[in-house]
Amino acid sequence: MNPDPILALLKRRIGLDAESLGTRVIEDRLADLARHFPGSSHLALAMAAEHDRSVFDAVVAHFVVNESWLFRTPEQFEALQKFARRRPLPLNVLSLPAAHGEEPASIAVSLHEAGLQPADFRIVAGDIDVDALRVARCGRFPLSAFRGGRPDPRWFAAHDGQYTLVPSLLSRIEFRELNILDPDILKGESFDVIFCRNLLIYLHDDARAQVLALLRRVAAPDALVFTGTAEPQLQFNAKPAAAVAEARPRQPKEPMPALRTAKRIATPQHSTQPMSAPAHEEPPLPARLAQIEQRANQGDLAGACAALDDLIGKIAPSATAWYLRGVLASAQGDLAAAESALDRAAYLDPAHQPTLRLRAELARRGGHHDHADRLQAQLKRRRGAGRDA
Ligand SMILES: C[S@@+](CC[C@H](N)C(=O)[O-])C[C@H]1O[C@@H](n2cnc3c(N)ncnc32)[C@H](O)[C@@H]1O
Repeated sequence: MNPDPILALLKRRIGLDAESLGTRVIEDRLADLARHFPGSSHLALAMAAEHDRSVFDAVVAHFVVNESWLFRTPEQFEALQKFARRRPLPLNVLSLPAAHGEEPASIAVSLHEAGLQPADFRIVAGDIDVDALRVARCGRFPLSAFRGGRPDPRWFAAHDGQYTLVPSLLSRIEFRELNILDPDILKGESFDVIFCRNLLIYLHDDARAQVLALLRRVAAPDALVFTGTAEPQLQFNAKPAAAVAEARPRQPKEPMPALRTAKRIATPQHSTQPMSAPAHEEPPLPARLAQIEQRANQGDLAGACAALDDLIGKIAPSATAWYLRGVLASAQGDLAAAESALDRAAYLDPAHQPTLRLRAELARRGGHHDHADRLQAQLKRRRGAGRDA
């Protein structure tokens, strides 16, 4: 069957791997798009998007995931501060993708708190979503964007329940419309620090490879590069892995553990329950997963995998389901598929202990002992945090 023309367009132009969103989400978004452009077929819309920028932007805005929050993964901002204190100034920083501006605002505040004056740094903040950038340019955030933390009044001015980044810091951020797959972006520029977090997870392999090539091209010697907590392994799996390992950019020596202090707010994206499946028709998710597990235990691994793939396509993203997918793939000896499933589980729930445990085991089996040690340490911290809670 030919792929849907809209999904084919998004795959080619922005690198979207539609599977990363799941069938139900894709169906919902296609339906929304049809309401936005009544009477247009998917083919007609995809063709219009090729030459009409406003149609392209509207299509893109329907499918990107803009979820972000201030000081997401606080450990990375601590690592940034340590790095900035050692590095000659001024510091050039790239935040791509920047969503609604949460990440570049967190960078600006962290650098200032580390003792840098606004003139000591500049941040280029890019995203493909023009609507998100429009919001980002205002530097204004709702309280929920702080995920339970309190906005520091030194850096965020409160007004009408919104919190606006002070002009001295906002003015250090240059917002740009950037498609990370555009081969010409950021030509001639180089950055001491790069934040490229929580985008690779949505991209297909070729797009990931292009992103990694871009990061290599724009990273200054000894640059510090941050990815999302579930993404280093994705880089490792991507085709030019060897090139990345040799590339100049480096990850901080410390692991980049998942959220320790910031509170997560449950959102449909992180929910482990079906989003809108009618409860009376289907047993709850844990029961359905248990049935699949039982099938695997009875020796029907292929049948269990097929049933699980079908289920994953119908429910909201679930860490537990992806973890089970990783277990089944590893039982079948398909380590690449296992790692990729576990990456998704870790992305959905960085604190999911069975996922951390299995990732560590697989990393060790693959001879990646440093990575395994980091995961093990993360697991230990998680267990400690569980006891403290
Ligand atoms: C989940 S947000 C990540 C934001 C932030 N980096 C973070 O980690 O919180 C993903 C962002 O990627 C952007 N995006 C998706 N495809 C893109 C592309 N090809 N080029 C640039 N940005 C893209 C989306 O618009 C969205 O704002």
